[in-house]
Amino acid sequence: TGFWVVIPAAGVGSRMLADRPKQYLPLAGRALIEHTLGCFLSHPRLRGLVVSLAADDPYWNSLDCASDERIGRAVGGSERADSVLNGLFRLLALGASDTDWVLVHDAARPNLQRADLDGLLEQLSRDPVGGLLAVPAKDTLKRAGADGRVAETVDRSVIWLAYTPQMFRLGMLREALQQALAAGVRVTDEASAMEWAGYAPRLIEGRADNIKVTRPEDLHWLEQQWPGALI
Ligand code: C5P
Repeated sequence: TGFWVVIPAAGVGSRMLADRPKQYLPLAGRALIEHTLGCFLSHPRLRGLVVSLAADDPYWNSLDCASDERIGRAVGGSERADSVLNGLFRLLALGASDTDWVLVHDAARPNLQRADLDGLLEQLSRDPVGGLLAVPAKDTLKRAGADGRVAETVDRSVIWLAYTPQMFRLGMLREALQQALAAGVRVTDEASAMEWAGYAPRLIEGRADNIKVTRPEDLHWLEQQWPGALI
């Protein structure tokens, strides 16, 4: 069976301190988002893909992939959940149904490897809820108290970092996101909307280098280790 993809790409990426949203910064000669899309567009089981773009996005149309007919477009919203929800509605218009699997993946996460994508699809294929790629916490964790001092050390053995793709049934995810938005709860990933709706998404261990570009040093790090990079 196949799967559908939504790529939310309507964020401004203010923490990058760059002249454009991070998904459009160059990495190894192409825009970051083009690398992100590549992992999905080359997959034989992809049924359709939608990118959610800011309404006034001036960058998308200058990319090579803007003319790719396999890529649908949705309008992004003020919150990530709005952008994803608009993407889900676009997929429904393209022929997806509520029982189909949909993968949501950050535009700014260009280093997803096929093995991780296949591992997620395989391990969740018979799951009643779905889940997400995630990475066990590596460093010792501190919860901050007042004045920049440690309030406590958190048990890292039960802490995971939430990565993407996150994979759910389209209808279940749509309802969870709609409920979360209506209730005004802030959800920074799809799993947290599902949790809020009462589900327990499964954690699927993925590669730690599937990083989300957030700060300038993240992009430098990816440049260094990109295939073909000068050593
Ligand atoms: O800001 P953050 O790094 O959490 O953004 C993760 C992803 O969500 C990015 O790909 C960003 O473009 C997207 N996003 C969006 N619409 C928003 C906010 C973020 O599509 N309103």
